[in-house]
This record gives sequence, C-alpha cells and structure tokens, in this order.
Amino acid sequence: MMKMSRRNLLRGCSAAAMTLAVDPSLAVAQTVLPDAFIEQLIARMSLEEKAGQLSIYSDPLRFEGAQINPKTAEQSAKQLHASILKGELTGLFNGVGASSARDLQKLAVEQSPHKIPLIFAGDIIHGMKTIFPIPVGEAASFNPTLAERTARAAAMEASAKGLHWTFAPMVDVARDERWGRVSEGAGEDPYLGAQMARARVKGFQGRNLRDEDTVLACPKHFAAYGGVEGGRDYNTVDIPDTTLRATFLPPFEAAFRQGALTTMSSFNDIAGVPATGNAYLLTDILRGEWGFKGLVVSDYTSEEEMILHGYAADGPDAVVKALSAGCDISMQSGLYYKHIPDLVRQGRLPLRVVDEAVRRVLRVKQAIGLFDNPYRSMDPKREASDIRRPETVALAREAARKSIVLLKNEQDLLPLKKSASVALIGPAIHDKADLPGPWAVFPDVERHVTFAEGFRSALGAQGRLFTARGADYEARLPGGVEQALAAAQSAEVIVLVVGESSEMSGEAQSRTDIGVPAPQLELAEALAKLAKPMVVLLRHGRALALTGAVRDAPAIMATWFLGSETGNAVADLVFGDFAPEARLPVSFPQVSGQEPYFYDHRNTGRPQLTDDKAYKSRYREVTNEALYPFGHGLSYSKVRYSATAVSEAGPSPALRAKGSVRVSAQVENLGARPCVEVAQLYIRQLTASVTQPVRQLKGFQRLSLAPGETRRVEFTIDAEMLAFPHPDHRTYAEPSAILAVIGPSAASGEPVKLAF
Ligand code: NOJ
Repeated sequence: MMKMSRRNLLRGCSAAAMTLAVDPSLAVAQTVLPDAFIEQLIARMSLEEKAGQLSIYSDPLRFEGAQINPKTAEQSAKQLHASILKGELTGLFNGVGASSARDLQKLAVEQSPHKIPLIFAGDIIHGMKTIFPIPVGEAASFNPTLAERTARAAAMEASAKGLHWTFAPMVDVARDERWGRVSEGAGEDPYLGAQMARARVKGFQGRNLRDEDTVLACPKHFAAYGGVEGGRDYNTVDIPDTTLRATFLPPFEAAFRQGALTTMSSFNDIAGVPATGNAYLLTDILRGEWGFKGLVVSDYTSEEEMILHGYAADGPDAVVKALSAGCDISMQSGLYYKHIPDLVRQGRLPLRVVDEAVRRVLRVKQAIGLFDNPYRSMDPKREASDIRRPETVALAREAARKSIVLLKNEQDLLPLKKSASVALIGPAIHDKADLPGPWAVFPDVERHVTFAEGFRSALGAQGRLFTARGADYEARLPGGVEQALAAAQSAEVIVLVVGESSEMSGEAQSRTDIGVPAPQLELAEALAKLAKPMVVLLRHGRALALTGAVRDAPAIMATWFLGSETGNAVADLVFGDFAPEARLPVSFPQVSGQEPYFYDHRNTGRPQLTDDKAYKSRYREVTNEALYPFGHGLSYSKVRYSATAVSEAGPSPALRAKGSVRVSAQVENLGARPCVEVAQLYIRQLTASVTQPVRQLKGFQRLSLAPGETRRVEFTIDAEMLAFPHPDHRTYAEPSAILAVIGPSAASGEPVKLAF
C-alpha cells in the first residue's frame, strides 16, 4: 500500500506552509497563510475533480438509519464507486461503519489521481447510538456544561463509527412553536441559544480537531430558518436586517468564534433572496465581518431549489449564483458536479471562484488531519469499545433528568412515594421506538428504557404499577379508555403521559394547533373524572398549548423527548431520588392562535398593562401573559427573590460614567430540600432609536441552595451588553434609562432602574 502523506504530496514544497488553525479558540482570529501544499494540489486538479470536491451525497451503500430526507438525486453504488476512483467526490453523509469507511477511503487515497481523502459526515444531532434529550429539551437544562459533555460523548460515538463531521449543532432561534424544527435547536432566545451553540461546538470539536474522537461541527441552518412565516417549514422569512442580527445571528457568531469551521446554508429566503444564493449572508457577514475561514455546504438540494424560489433560471444559473454567493459544497443535487466544468469553460463562472471553494474544502480536510491520517476515526476496535460506554449511558440519564421542567406542582403532589400504587397511562409508555425523538438517525432503540421499565425498576418491590396505553398518539384505541380507567381505579395516583409522538415534530412537521391530540385529551378528561391525584408528563418537540384536564392537572412536567434513558430519568424525578432543575427555553402560550409567541417582543404603543381590554394590543379571548413563561421551572423546594438592587453604594448610578454597573439580588431557599435555582438577568432599554424588547435575557447563574440558605447573586451590566444592531449594520449602545431585573423567569422579579 502506498503511504499517503502530506510529505509525499508536497514533493519539495515548503514545509513551513501554514494551515487553518487547529486550536478551535483561534480558528476565527487566525490569519490563514497561503498553503503551498494545497495550492499545488489545486493547480494539478482537473475541472471535474474540482467539481467533485464540491459535491457531497447521501450514502446509499452504508445507510442503516431512518429515512430522513426526500429520495432525491440518489446516486447508485456504482456511480459513487466510479466517482471515488476518479477523485470526483468530496465525501458522503449518513453512511456509517468504521471498516466500510476504511474500504472507501482506501480507494480514494490509493487509486484516485490526486489521492485526496474523502470526508464522512452524518446528522448526529443529539446522539449517535446513545441518545440524549432533543436539543430544545437539553437547552431547558440552562446548563451549557452539560450540553458540552453530551456533544463530546456524541462525538466519541460518531467518530467511532467512522464519521468526521456532524451536521450539528442546529442553532436556529425559533420564534414560532408551530414550526416542527423547534425541537432541534435551543428555543426562542438568542442569548441562551448562543451559550448552547458555543458549548455544543466545544463538545463536538474537543481540544484538537485532529484528535480521532472529535467531529467537525456544522452550526446550521445559516440563517434565520427559525423565522419562517407562519411557522411553516421551508417558508419565506421577511425580517429587517436589525432583527436578523439581533435575534437570529448571535448563536452562529458564538459558534464560529468557538471555532466551528463549517456551516450549512438554510432552505429559506430572506426578503426574497434564498440563503444559499445570498452573498450578503455567506460572504459579507460570514467571511467579511466575522472572518470565517471554513466552508459552507448547501442544505440538501437548496441550490437547486433556488429555481423554484424563482431566483435562478435553471441548473447552471443556480450553480453560478450559489457558488458566487459563497456556498462551497453542493449537497445532493449533483448540480455543481454536472455544471461547473462547462460553466468555467464557457466563461460564465470564473475559475478563481471555483478554486477558492476548493481551497476552503481542502483546508478543512487538512485541519482535521485527513491528509496526514486519512484513516482517522476508522478504527474497528473503537467501534466496538466506544459505543454505549457505561459513562455515556449514565450521562444520557443525567442529561435527561436535568432537561425535565416541573411546570406545576399543586400541594406538593410530586414527588410520589415509592410505596404508592401507580397507574401509568399513555400511548408512549411501552413504545421504545418513540423515545429517541426527532432527528435521531441511528439510535440503539432496543436498549432504550421505556416509561414502564423505568417506573418498574424505581418502584421495585415496594409499590405497585398498573399500565394501560389508553389511546394511540392521534387515534382512539378500541377499549383504550376503559382499560385506562380500570388501571386507574386500582391505583392511588395516576401518571398520565400525553403529548406528541416523535413524528409530530422535526423537519416538515409544522402544526396549526400545538395542542395535545384529541384522542389523548379525551383520555385525560375521562381519567380526571375519577378525581384521583393525577400527574401529567408531557411529551413534545415544541411548546404545547394545554387545554382541559391536561392543563388543569395538579402536577405537570415537560419531558420533551429524552432519548435512551427516558424511563429511568423520569422515574428519578417522579419518585424524588433527584429534584427537577430545568427551565423553559420556550414560552408556553395560552392558546395556539397566539403563535408566534416569544417573551422578548416589543412593547407597542398600546400594550396590555391591566385587565382593561379596550383598544389594547391583545386578543379577545386570552391574556397576553404566557401560561408558563420562558425561564419558568419549579423544584421540589420554594425560593424567594429579593428586589433587584444596584450593588454599588451612591445615588442613581450612571453606567456611562463607570462603563459598567453591578446588580444583585438575594435568593433564598424557603423549603426543606436542597434545590438548584437558575437566577436570570433580564434588561430593558426604555428608549432607543430602534425600540427594544420588553425584556432580554443577558445572563443566568445556577445556584445550589441548601434548605434555608440565602445566596446573593450578582451580574455586571456594561455597554457591550446593551449594544444592539442599528439599520446601518453596526452594533452599539445608546444612552438610555434601563430596567434590570434578576428573577426566576421572564415574567417575574422586581426591577431596578439605571441610567446609561
Ligand atoms: C435536510 C436538513 O434540513 C438538514 O438539517 C440535514 O442536515 C440534511 N437534510 C442532511 O440530512
């Protein structure tokens, strides 16, 4: 076998040539010097090879997961094999297996003309085999360190399966809960979104991108996909530049500053220009303003879809527009491969544009060490040892537990005693296949722990468990309600698990009504009539609009889709071995018709300030307040916040004079159990040349409080925190009075007024 090495290829080129930074924290800041090795390679490549380096396809040979994309432009095994031998393919995605990856890589590095290694990618969104909570659920932990650890563990499993690159994290801020892809991101808030984005990139990419247990991160979808009109997937986005920058871009910028070297352009257009052909986004902002040195891949035929958008006339036109805008790799359509050579020969596409895209792709391959070590992350031994390691499974349980939000707990119904007799009811209670949730492509479903299994092992010999499904997710079950009533009648307490099936959220799963489906509501109503204590455990990939017996239940937990350890994690909290500590990353509205609903809205000239409904910006039927606000979440204890105060002594502290000011509050655990409290800092700028939201999250701190303990929590407010995007594309602060408030949610806390 000929050894593929950088030195072989260099053939005398200066070894001092620099490459992309491999230290993630430096990746953006570092100047990339011309690399003689890559330049020489580009000089020798044919147009067909260049077009191939800019084309990636879903892997039909080694796909062993669920169908997650339309069957479009599938390449046959024969075609792919031929392309690899000719050096006309950059890589494949969603095929897995360390040995099979080695076999394909061997063809590329031993038989293709320039021996450029393939890159293998995959949609590893919240776990590979061991599945962690869906990202919106994990965001509820308000715990970036936890997100970093789960991303690290996912990278460990993905790289053991022969992958180099994950199409994650999804960092789209979601403003409308009708949109099914809320499940994949970190919720509605740009600040929390940025914290989670940074943590996930750090976890995926590890300490050094060349390490074999790391994967390249791909923050997606760039950009503003979460702003689709009406929450309808793939729809248009019509927002001003100030909103783009204030709401949708912060998590991306945070991810790139953390060293993410790839991104995926989104399906949507923004004000008429599709993201994939959007030079303002992909070149001016991404590369110009932020200094991004990595590559952009299109989202599954999005360059071809520019024809249907009405932005490109035909395939060749789409290629010219996407590539010139800064989209380097075409995913799945095959259009780049098909048209680039002729477009260059005809003079319709400058060669330098193609070369620049190829350069970016090769540099990323180089940054992860593929030229020196093309068989990295293809070790069959690791494939056997690094999947479902005990510590990874334990982490899945911890992450799931820390993602569950206790919304309501009247008369301390929860936690339940392990000596209780419990009726566990709901369509999902035995359903392993539904546990991973949306966007888990390769889960080890057989080893997932169901609700019933988790409850049984928690109760052990002490308590009794009766189970019944009661209904299917979206249909009645013959005799279902009767069986559920019988189970409930035998028990002291009912635990009802209701909500969405995992197929009801995720890509292309927009809903007009974000409620619990009717057959499950019927079941809840029937059970409520028994007048027994009832705990509701919600399952969902988005916020839900709760009604009837579900809304009125005395205890409610938001459990999202929790992954491999669902049953154990839920039982950990229900039976009080651990206490809940998560907070909502999405607002629960009163009714579906309020969507898009998010806490950081503007005030308007006629805000609803009192119960007086006349001529106010509100709906006839419901108040504007959320049913459960962003940031809300209870523990098994009670806490009290003091009013927010300025830490420094002296009258009317002016931020401007000092550049910063510290604000604080006292947080007291009034209960008999220890608790974890998430103290949140919100600010409001009362006057500005572009009006600012009524509240904006600017910081949070997790406090572990012993029973009776009081802690002072403090935050620093400075001009950078108050800066906001202006219509001239610049971001800076303006003099204003501001309100600062430290509290347990976006709807509580006593503010202090400051001048800036
Ligand atoms: C389409 C999805 O929008 C994207 O998130 C995913 O990474 C690609 N398909 C590849 O599966």
